Amino acid sequence: MKSDLIVYAARLPKAELHLHIEGSLEPALMFALAQRNKIDIPFKTVDEVRAAYAFSNLQDFLDIYYQGMSVLQTEEDFFDLTMAYLNRARADNVRHVEIFFDPQGHTDRGVAFDTAIGGILTALSMAKKQFGMTSKLIMCFLRHLPEAAAFSTLKQAETWLDQIDGVGLDSSEVGHPPSKFQKVYEAARERGLKLVAHAGEEGPPDYVYEALDLLKIDRLDHGNRSLEDDALVKRLADEGMTLTVCPLSNLKLCVVDDMRDHPLKKMLDLGLRATVNSDDPSYFGGYMQDNFEAVINALDLTRDDIKTLAKNSFTGSFLSDGEIRAQLAAIDLVR
Ligand code: ADE
Ligand code: ZN
Repeated sequence: MKSDLIVYAARLPKAELHLHIEGSLEPALMFALAQRNKIDIPFKTVDEVRAAYAFSNLQDFLDIYYQGMSVLQTEEDFFDLTMAYLNRARADNVRHVEIFFDPQGHTDRGVAFDTAIGGILTALSMAKKQFGMTSKLIMCFLRHLPEAAAFSTLKQAETWLDQIDGVGLDSSEVGHPPSKFQKVYEAARERGLKLVAHAGEEGPPDYVYEALDLLKIDRLDHGNRSLEDDALVKRLADEGMTLTVCPLSNLKLCVVDDMRDHPLKKMLDLGLRATVNSDDPSYFGGYMQDNFEAVINALDLTRDDIKTLAKNSFTGSFLSDGEIRAQLAAIDLVR
């Protein structure tokens, strides 16, 4: 029964590996911050905001996502944003999070790197103390900007590197291939950072090859279009590469036309290490459990599939081997 699977998914400990903290900005908080910071936003009601969230592709969404960020001004704003997400994730039994943030989305409008990261890190450390949630922080480069801008972001991050775990690549994919960022990824690797990149969300399988071969990523964000290339699928499966799949995002951004066509089940059947994530939950209609419910309702996932997805979220994380083992054991205890 689907309802049993939904309850099972809710009970399982999970990690979230693909979450843009700026994409968790709920309309109510957007209004509160706009008022607190005396910033004009082009919406009067929550309904108006929701109505604006009708996207036909990634760029439609990004335009409104960058606009939404304008209300984030102070360290307290970033703290409030992050704390709201962490509490919401906790309610879905998310025990570990690896959060993306987009420093250039803030520095380019005059908000200091330190303001953004300071607020985010304070919330992450409070969640660890208050409810034992572990976390990693991944700094993303905006791929529509030049590689030189990514280098300047890496430089601004220099004094924070002991608290940043990895770098990622996001924003407009098509026309901005991973190869554009090969040098800055090499620099990040030399600094001991983990490497992830969005590839194959809208971009072709070639972009996934570039992310693997040129950026030398440790984890692949989205990766949906890898399924168009059998040799690539085999390679991803053989290498045990984790894919951070985002079902509701894929539906909202028209990467899939119908949830019944979502490739998640196929990915698992092909031996790919897929995980379930919410990407930008405020914009795409839901958090971790909403994503599980959507795929359980639309696809023929088995109980074992659900368990595999939860296990993959920890084996694909940047936690230590000991921490991963403990989380996998906790999953085995859930009936
Ligand atoms: N930035 C925030 N969400 C994104 C996504 N799904 N793809 C690319 N860039 C993003
Ligand atoms: Zn994303």
